[in-house]
Amino acid sequence: MTNVLALKSSILGDYSSSSKLIDELLAQYAQQQAAVTVHDLAEQPLPVLDGEIASAMRSPEQLNDKQQHALNLSDQLIAELESADLLVIGAPMYNFMIPTQLKIWIDLVARAGKTFTYTEQGPEGLITGTRAVVVTTRGGMHKDQASDQMIPYLKNVLAFIGITDVEVVYAESLAMGPEAAAVNLEQAREQLAVVA
Ligand SMILES: Cc1cc2nc3c(=O)[nH]c(=O)nc-3n(C[C@H](O)[C@H](O)[C@H](O)COP(=O)(O)O)c2cc1C
Repeated sequence: MTNVLALKSSILGDYSSSSKLIDELLAQYAQQQAAVTVHDLAEQPLPVLDGEIASAMRSPEQLNDKQQHALNLSDQLIAELESADLLVIGAPMYNFMIPTQLKIWIDLVARAGKTFTYTEQGPEGLITGTRAVVVTTRGGMHKDQASDQMIPYLKNVLAFIGITDVEVVYAESLAMGPEAAAVNLEQAREQLAVVA
């Protein structure tokens, strides 16, 4: 059975284009009897990585309640990642970057000894056998331009933890009139149908 882990990160709730596209994709996986886990990172925010949590992740001894809670969450998120065949990431562009809420998830799963390690040859990702699909929605057009720092960033950090098979589905120009939005959303749907 395929294990799908989906992360929504839009702050726009029911108006979110990326979350709608993800729901449509997950409906197709549900028909295939896949096991699906979904996190809405905006609806249920994770704790922000701060000094206390970072030190708990490095040396998990004598933890206070906040540290223990964050470490437990980090363990759970990493376990989900380890067992996922497919990671689906909803990544709307906000101020030229990924949403803060998605960055927090990344901060909690990037853990030395768990998702990456350092070898004599350099860093090595420990999440193997997981492929990723990034669904990125934007008001304007940024694909392959200098204004798009978020896709290179996501590919880089995913590769760092071992996920190198990454497909990106773009839905751009969503704030450039209803016609452009409809055409681009339809193109994204067609790409996602191929993924599923
Ligand atoms: C706070 C905020 C910042 C945004 N920043 C950008 C931006 O830098 N570039 C852009 O093209 N669109 C920007 N947009 C438009 C969103 O990318 C667009 O509305 C997209 O559909 C958001 O995805 P979502 O509906 O899944 O949240 C921004 C929207 C919001 C709410």
